[in-house]
Amino acid sequence: MTQTSTFEPTNEVQIVPSVLPADFAKLGEECAALEAAGVDRIQFDVMDGRFVPNLTFGADTIAAVREHSSVIFEAHLMVHEPDWMLESIVEAGCELVIVHAEACTHLHRTLGKIKELGAAASVALNPHTPIDFLQNVTDLLDMVLIMTVNPGFGGQAYISTMEPKIAATRKLLDTADRWIDIEVDGGISNKTIAGASKAGANVFISGSGIYGHPGGSSEAVTELRQLATEARN
Ligand code: DX5
Repeated sequence: MTQTSTFEPTNEVQIVPSVLPADFAKLGEECAALEAAGVDRIQFDVMDGRFVPNLTFGADTIAAVREHSSVIFEAHLMVHEPDWMLESIVEAGCELVIVHAEACTHLHRTLGKIKELGAAASVALNPHTPIDFLQNVTDLLDMVLIMTVNPGFGGQAYISTMEPKIAATRKLLDTADRWIDIEVDGGISNKTIAGASKAGANVFISGSGIYGHPGGSSEAVTELRQLATEARN
């Protein structure tokens, strides 16, 4: 089964909430509210309890909420050897699929399978993982996710020492023959987004930075977008 993703990497600032802090008892309504708040996409953190010490949801949950929002869905697969679930994740309505370099024995093959399914492909690097892992797969990438926390939980502190890694990744990706987005995920808030943006990220995942914002999600999205835009070189 293949479908054509409408996802296009652009050098624009994108604010993308993680639904990890959402009320899972009404996840459909939460997705509708995020769209109304002006988000660019919605990210689903799929955790398997093996690659990360936490367990969330899978394709069926994503499929159940697909009809509640018209924005692009992306899946962050924190899953050991995720090939087996790629088709169901795309069928559930995700147009962008992110896999971890550390979780894929055959990363090139896994990324190729995502593309064959008609989705956009991204690789995530944990804080300790060098960007060398990107060298031989950039031709398959639409986006790179630089983790700014160790994955598995929301509400963690931003790891600012990832900023030079973000800058080095931007330099590496600029040698490609087309634009490839850099997404950051973990501890992104109105206090940290400027540093990540200045370093070279253009897509920003935020869970607690949006859900915990005193002004509500719409104000959070507007503020994050403004701060990221102002900080760009
Ligand atoms: C890490 C998760 C979190 C989540 C965002 O495993 O991927 O980073 O999406 O959580 P906050 O924005 O609360 O750090």
